[in-house]
Amino acid sequence: MPQTFEVLYYQGLESLLQCTDEKQIYVAKFSDYIIRYNANSLLDIGAGDGQVALPLSEMVEDYVAIEQNPQYAARLRQAGKQVIEEVFPTEVKGLYDLVLMSHVISHTAGEHATLVPPAWGLVKPGGHLLVVTHLGIKQDDWSQLLDHVGLGYSEQFNDSLHDCLRALQAKGETEIQNVTSTLTADTVTQMIMAMAFLASNGERARNDAFMERADEVVTILGDRYHTADRLSFPFLHLFVSTQKPATAVDSY
Ligand SMILES: C[S@@+](CC[C@H](N)C(=O)[O-])C[C@H]1O[C@@H](n2cnc3c(N)ncnc32)[C@H](O)[C@@H]1O
Repeated sequence: MPQTFEVLYYQGLESLLQCTDEKQIYVAKFSDYIIRYNANSLLDIGAGDGQVALPLSEMVEDYVAIEQNPQYAARLRQAGKQVIEEVFPTEVKGLYDLVLMSHVISHTAGEHATLVPPAWGLVKPGGHLLVVTHLGIKQDDWSQLLDHVGLGYSEQFNDSLHDCLRALQAKGETEIQNVTSTLTADTVTQMIMAMAFLASNGERARNDAFMERADEVVTILGDRYHTADRLSFPFLHLFVSTQKPATAVDSY
């Protein structure tokens, strides 16, 4: 009997969480930003399941999460955190020293123009917006692999990313960092499941398309990403941090 996509999705997520060091890297990097910016208030847009959100929330006096997934929102609330269980953009009271939006912009939809301006509007004058996203077309090993299996970033994603970067640079001092996380797996099956989850973006058709080309991916992994007794694959993330001028009065 064919497996439902929900089962596949959670198996893929489980494989990813076993393989990636992404969450530890995020917690370490975001903690650095909180300390460096002396941030006391944090608005965490698309906070996720708590792995990153909870350690960060302990570092600030005022933490607010926005999370559309009811299970994740419930988990954060059970941990005593303030959660706006809505799809962003939505109404949010107040302004924040740091507004974080980490991997909320989908790599298929590329909704930079819908999500970034309202997030910027919630930054206090003198505060920062930190957007973490993918790099786009042909910039790194992952986008090249996605291209190879016909699931690469669209020109539209790239254009919208570059428009967004230009707009942020015009708004305030902007620092751009490339941060690498690594997928490490003992078995090729584990690596393929983690990658299929990432490539799917939650869509069955993309998962199936990736799995149809899995043999080619296995060959590439064997040729280029095999170290001693393990598979190791790098992921680049773009960290874009913009400071709102202390005198700013506009929203975007
Ligand atoms: C890939 S996870 C990232 C979680 C965390 N920010 C991190 O970087 O580890 C994206 C999260 O954002 C949530 N999300 C995506 N789009 C959203 C939106 N427009 N409004 C609120 N939550 C959203 C999803 O439900 C998911 O929990």
